[in-house]
Amino acid sequence: MKVYIETYGCQMNVNDTEVVFSILARKGYERTEDIAQADVIMANTCSIRDNAEQRIWGRVDYFSGFRKARKGVLVGILGCMAERLKDALLDTGKVDVVAGPDAYRNLPELLTAAREGHPQMDVILSREETYGDISPVRIDKNGVSAFISIMRGCNNVCSYCVVPYTRGAERSRDWRTIVREACDCFASGYREVTLLGQNVDSYLYEDVNFAALLGKVADVSPLLRVRFSTSHPKDISDEVIAMMAGKPNICHQIHLPVQSGNDRILEKMRRRYTRAWYLERVAKIREAMPDCGISTDAIVGFCSETEEEFRDTLSLFREVGFDSAFMFNYSERPGTLAARNYPDDVPAEEKTRRLNELIELQNGLSLESNRRDLGKNFEVLVEGPSKKGSGQLCGRNGAGKMCVWTDSTHKAGDYVYVKVTDCSSATLLCELIENQ
Ligand code: SAH
Ligand code: SF4
Ligand code: F3S
Repeated sequence: MKVYIETYGCQMNVNDTEVVFSILARKGYERTEDIAQADVIMANTCSIRDNAEQRIWGRVDYFSGFRKARKGVLVGILGCMAERLKDALLDTGKVDVVAGPDAYRNLPELLTAAREGHPQMDVILSREETYGDISPVRIDKNGVSAFISIMRGCNNVCSYCVVPYTRGAERSRDWRTIVREACDCFASGYREVTLLGQNVDSYLYEDVNFAALLGKVADVSPLLRVRFSTSHPKDISDEVIAMMAGKPNICHQIHLPVQSGNDRILEKMRRRYTRAWYLERVAKIREAMPDCGISTDAIVGFCSETEEEFRDTLSLFREVGFDSAFMFNYSERPGTLAARNYPDDVPAEEKTRRLNELIELQNGLSLESNRRDLGKNFEVLVEGPSKKGSGQLCGRNGAGKMCVWTDSTHKAGDYVYVKVTDCSSATLLCELIENQ
């Protein structure tokens, strides 16, 4: 049996797909990247914004073509959209299996039962499941950088966000299985791990908090780089910042989603910090690590956001000078606190105007940030040939910036030193420094 899986959404979904491949491999399923060869076609889905779901509906139609064309082909929907829409997916008549994020251990049984002609669904959320004992089958191609989920779910209930409903309550994975997985990664050639959670700073297993976990993973090998995502501004602690500053192989990069620069909107979003608090955290990070890359997420056009309040987001972006950012129009998600309590009243055109203005500002800030690096030297982990090819390699510096340089002597997994000679808003163009 061959199984094909398309993955949408966040890095955690990528890691979940790896867990699914591992669970299915034990039952004899083989992975294929050719949909036409597949006996089982699945999408691991995302519900974070309406357009994410719309894209997946298109894929369901596409998959159903293969299901009609060849007898016995099964279509499965996994992940957050499976959890949110449940029966509505089966009701299309185009889907055989619906499995939520905590139901993957049951997938082999669900597929077997579906093969008998009975559509199957398991969307039960768990308080314990962390897939801690499962070694993911890595699907990333470079063999250098791996994702490790350290926790699942979220307890924050930000008013706009669907994740607590699709992923359930927060739970931390046994730190021993995390350290073991990092060791396995290193032994099989990986040189970087990214620890994943919706709010990594609230990691706690027995007496091991996130700072302690970072230390344990960093101790696996000085040659293993450690990154993590996502930090919640209300929870990122001085202890975590100190741990990052103290261990050379913990990369100086923090993804710190601000969402808005205005206190009334932050309150309405239930983010539970203020603009001043956020700016203080950034100052603290920069004091401890002046070279720390800081990126963010922001939402524009949240319920009742005025032009002036949006301007506060622009001014916060300028004040911080983010290295990069993901920026989104607010998308109302059914069932969330915001959907139940506040009208989605910023017109679509106005959201898009604000979004474009913010993106334009950030493009300039990214370019400024990269220009500040001109002439600097960085240690970079080689990820492989650059997309443009032509004898160039690419890899990231500690701050998470993509570097590209001409090189015929190194390979993926090597550490090299480069000097920045030029840049765009997205990339540092570098030259190799010999003998370092
Ligand atoms: N746990 C992370 C966020 C995960 S979702 C955190 O708390 O920061 C990734 C990003 O999607 C969020 O940071 C937010 O900017 C965006 N997002 C979430 N819900 C959204 C919605 N309803 N509309 C638009 N963007 C949304
Ligand atoms: Fe969503 Fe907030 Fe949890 Fe992030 S912290 S996943 S934005 S509820
Ligand atoms: Fe999307 Fe679910 Fe991740 S909604 S962003 S796939 S947690």
